Amino acid sequence: MPTSTAPLWTSQDLRNATQGQLTGDVHVRAVCIDTRSLQPGDLFIALIGHNADGHQYLKQALEHGAACVIAHDGAAIAKAGLTDDPRLLLVSDTMQALEALGRYRRAQFKGKAIAITGSVGKTTTKNMLATALAAYGKVHASVASFNNHWGVPLTLARLPQDAAFCISEVGMNHPGEIAPLVAQIRPDIGLITTIGSAHLGHMGSLNAIAAEKASLFAALPAGGTALCPEEAAQFPAVTHAIPQDVSLWQVGTTSHATIHCDELHCTATGSQLHLSTPAGEAQLTLTAPGPHLARNAALALGAIAALGLPPQAGATALRHFQPEAGRGQQRLLPGEITLLDESYNASGPSIRAALETLSLMPAPRHIAALGDIRELGTFAAEEHRALAQPLTEHNILTFCCGPHMKSLYEALPRSLQGGYAETSTQLALLLRPALQKGDVLLVKGSLGSRMRDLIALLDQPESSHSPEST
Ligand SMILES: Nc1ncnc2c1ncn2[C@@H]1O[C@H](COP(=O)(O)OP(=O)(O)O)[C@@H](O)[C@H]1O
Ligand SMILES: [Mg+2]
Repeated sequence: MPTSTAPLWTSQDLRNATQGQLTGDVHVRAVCIDTRSLQPGDLFIALIGHNADGHQYLKQALEHGAACVIAHDGAAIAKAGLTDDPRLLLVSDTMQALEALGRYRRAQFKGKAIAITGSVGKTTTKNMLATALAAYGKVHASVASFNNHWGVPLTLARLPQDAAFCISEVGMNHPGEIAPLVAQIRPDIGLITTIGSAHLGHMGSLNAIAAEKASLFAALPAGGTALCPEEAAQFPAVTHAIPQDVSLWQVGTTSHATIHCDELHCTATGSQLHLSTPAGEAQLTLTAPGPHLARNAALALGAIAALGLPPQAGATALRHFQPEAGRGQQRLLPGEITLLDESYNASGPSIRAALETLSLMPAPRHIAALGDIRELGTFAAEEHRALAQPLTEHNILTFCCGPHMKSLYEALPRSLQGGYAETSTQLALLLRPALQKGDVLLVKGSLGSRMRDLIALLDQPESSHSPEST
């Protein structure tokens, strides 16, 4: 959202960018594609999605105060009575219009663009970088995980002219998705957070995943910087992708690291790290625990150094950073159980990271309630089973639900098998009586495994506990 009073888009800019027809004089304050989040003064773009057609909401958008609507479906426009409306911007295709707005704003942008991709940690690293960079100038960043074919151009279409930095998250589920998104962003700095087994099902192999992520690096301009953990730079697909006049900056602890992490100390209450970078040193204290967060923070500060900025001010700004809901927040459940809430999603690497964090927390017992990891295709059984190793290493009593988690459950030593159920609500029934005061409980699974429902049931006072009634 722009904070300046100048409109984000004027009629002339909208016409120039989209080549569409607009008769009125409009002043747009923000860009929106969903009437549920529309604010008066917004531009509403009627996109056609899998489940809905934005053209059905044209009238509603204007009733809610939209300054302008972009549409292409003549019949829907007529039905909404908007054919001669001065607030209608008529285009040949609304999706192409959104992309055109994004390209137009990007072309006008005088600041630095940073694109972030990776198997896990994109949103967290993006949010960390946004928090840290705010210490140096005005930051514009993707909202939530707006990282796909509409999220990327929407972020660019919202880019205020006076921003100094634009941070875009770039996602992918299938090969070939990253390059066209990066072509819109035209980043000066590309950051790969991790290369791991998220979405293995669609991608086939880790090398294929590395090659896909590396298409971010391949698109960097002369003088740009490719930034990644030193483990990611081990993939030949990554180093081969880097154009000759682009610098590769590795973040890590070996002598190859440009962003050198000299000390890393992780406890249950946070992490401390010291970084040596070409732009100066930084001492960072994070109050959110987890070595993975410390690694993300090192990458974010690495990006700041790659912009030529001394990173200490950014490190100081990160001190009170907290991850988003369902990505590692802690709170108490009834019965004095500490919950590590990771119910937002799951992949092999993120479960391993969460188990590391769990094992840092002082408690008589560490317990994990795990739901299925989705989108692993034929790799599902193997990927789930492989989690038996870290669970055994950290001695974590494990409860599982879902068909894929059955493979893991059966691979666990008997002493760590807490219980198995088909669904998360059934698992709550098994888990609840097994919990004891002082336990620390990690809850994690793909969003579709509905681990939030399990947490909601554990949140209820003991007497009202009845999954069937929910
Ligand atoms: N560097 C990392 N390594 C492993 N897991 C991570 C890392 N960063 C974040 N995570 C975990 O991965 C999950 C998704 O994090 P998020 O930042 O939303 O990633 P993305 O945007 O790539 O989906 C969360 O459970 C989070 O705690
Ligand atoms: Mg994300």
